[in-house]
Amino acid sequence: MANGRHWINIIGFLASCALISCAQVEDPCKTKSRISADDKYCDKYWECDGGQPVQYDCPNGLVFAGKHRGVTEGCDYPWRSNYCEYPKVQINPPIGTEHCDWLYGIFGHETSCTRYWTCWNGTATEQLCIGGLLYNENAHSCDWPENVDGCQKHPLCNEDPNGNVPLGKSCNRYWQCQGGYPRLQRCPAMLVFDRRSLRCVVPPTEECDVPTTTPPPPEEAQEPRQDAPPHRSHRPSQEFQDGHRPQNRPRN
Ligand SMILES: *[C@@H]1O[C@H](CO)[C@@H](O)[C@H](O)[C@H]1NC(C)=O
Repeated sequence: MANGRHWINIIGFLASCALISCAQVEDPCKTKSRISADDKYCDKYWECDGGQPVQYDCPNGLVFAGKHRGVTEGCDYPWRSNYCEYPKVQINPPIGTEHCDWLYGIFGHETSCTRYWTCWNGTATEQLCIGGLLYNENAHSCDWPENVDGCQKHPLCNEDPNGNVPLGKSCNRYWQCQGGYPRLQRCPAMLVFDRRSLRCVVPPTEECDVPTTTPPPPEEAQEPRQDAPPHRSHRPSQEFQDGHRPQNRPRN
């Protein structure tokens, strides 16, 4: 059977060579890498097998990027580069599983602005945007709320778009909402955040004693994340409560 398919592939290669586009198909057996892009379909490529060109499909949802490139098997997420520029198209239809539009990819969450799914061979893993970031479906990564359509104002600031919000049990850090965008703030030295008045006050309060004069906790030094957005001076460094993606809500 493999042999039959083999010949069909070779005929397919020759046939594509018979067409005008032949000049664009590089015979993989004449290249050093023994692998070459298809001329019409960005999710297909050719490999030199036993001295003959054989056509392969990228894993579902991925497109050909080049040997040793991309996320697996020389294939990459289509949005990472201009792999599918006109007239090239992705020909294989999506194979969806729960939470995954394609077997491989990064997809938005159904109900949350702070979560998203990474799919690998159809298996979805839920991911969480930390530090006040929201999932940006265009960038396929966590991003600042003002860059995320439909989730522009973080749910944390729903109650008062310019108010302060306590940060967990922290005695000196809090969220300051600025027009609906939360920014991490720290009370001036010797003051503590009072969750009743939502201001920095002289301690003690009900929850917070006089702070000891120690350097800031090490938790602030966060490992850079692969999907981190461009640097900002006020990088929030604490996780939000889960936010819910507003469904069919009129834009602000
Ligand atoms: C993907 O999953 C299918 C079945 O779920 C399995 O048969 C196949 O080997 C997997 N492929 C890879 C590359 O892991």
